Amino acid sequence: MVRLLLERGEHVVVVDDLSTGFAERVEGADLVRLDVTAPDAAEKLAFHLRASGADSVIHFAAHKQVGVSVQQPEMYYRDNITGLANVLSACENAGVRDVVFSSSAAVYGMPDVELVTEELTPSPINPYGRTKLIGEWMLEDAERAHGLRTVGLRYFNVAGAGWPVCADTQVMNLVPIVLNALENGKTPVVFGDDYDTPDGTCIRDYVHVVDLADAHIQALEYLRGEDRPHRVFNVGTGKGSSVLEVIDAIARATGQEITPEIGERRAGDPARLVCSTDRIRETLGWTSTKTLDDIVVSDVEARRAKKAEAEGAQA
Ligand code: WQD
Repeated sequence: MVRLLLERGEHVVVVDDLSTGFAERVEGADLVRLDVTAPDAAEKLAFHLRASGADSVIHFAAHKQVGVSVQQPEMYYRDNITGLANVLSACENAGVRDVVFSSSAAVYGMPDVELVTEELTPSPINPYGRTKLIGEWMLEDAERAHGLRTVGLRYFNVAGAGWPVCADTQVMNLVPIVLNALENGKTPVVFGDDYDTPDGTCIRDYVHVVDLADAHIQALEYLRGEDRPHRVFNVGTGKGSSVLEVIDAIARATGQEITPEIGERRAGDPARLVCSTDRIRETLGWTSTKTLDDIVVSDVEARRAKKAEAEGAQA
């Protein structure tokens, strides 16, 4: 996101506590190390928004692991909600009008539909998804109270890498989990193959992280316009890929034969979660550009380049 904004000549200030991120990923932007959930965060954020002359905010900072949210719901509610509340207070205080919010397909829970549209009533089934739905409500209330202009982007399954330094080192999702297992000589595990899908494994809508970042650019443009019929948009490809299909794509990208272990189902996994892209295409003019193979190859190549760089640095 930072790199796309810098390429467009925007002045970017990154506010991050670097609890999971790395400063080198955002070279070229000003970096303010700050925990948005801290007691004085709203005041400090307002100061930096005014000092930088910011006219827009994109809010990403939140926890995003469904499984952890089930085990530690209080931490998820405390941090994800408080962080957003501080950001919105700072925007109101500093006169920043436009806010793009990182929401999630997790707000839909386990919808039993072929394609998920934004007209579907959200019914999140885990604390993570609930914090994202509450976040969307908070944006709506901030619009009403302070005249903010907001967009919530409901991310489906984000994967891939735009640059080696941005390779996903957090082993939290299917593609990095499988790649990490292969790199460590371990067998990937498929969480259940008895779902009501063609090959029995769960189907998801995998969208490239750079395509996703571009959707934020389109959302910022939308907020600067006068015609704003919608406040939330799905961000995905509209195409589903099963776990086994993703593993096959990884085998193609790595040239490795992969025979995964079939494990137990994971609680809370819907059989299918694929989005309709009609609204974002028709309203923001955005569509994904990268295929599943593009996504997986970009991850493999980024990890290889990052590893080579690290080894070069050690040599
Ligand atoms: C994908 C599929 C697993 C690991 C993610 C984010 C969530 C939200 C939605 C942004 C599932 C299966 C996984 C493994 C497996 N995105 N799997 N073996 O659960 O769809 O949610 O996208 O807000 O934040 O977490 O993603 O990558 O965990 O799983 O079989 O070792 O792969 O069961 O069907 P998920 P995931």
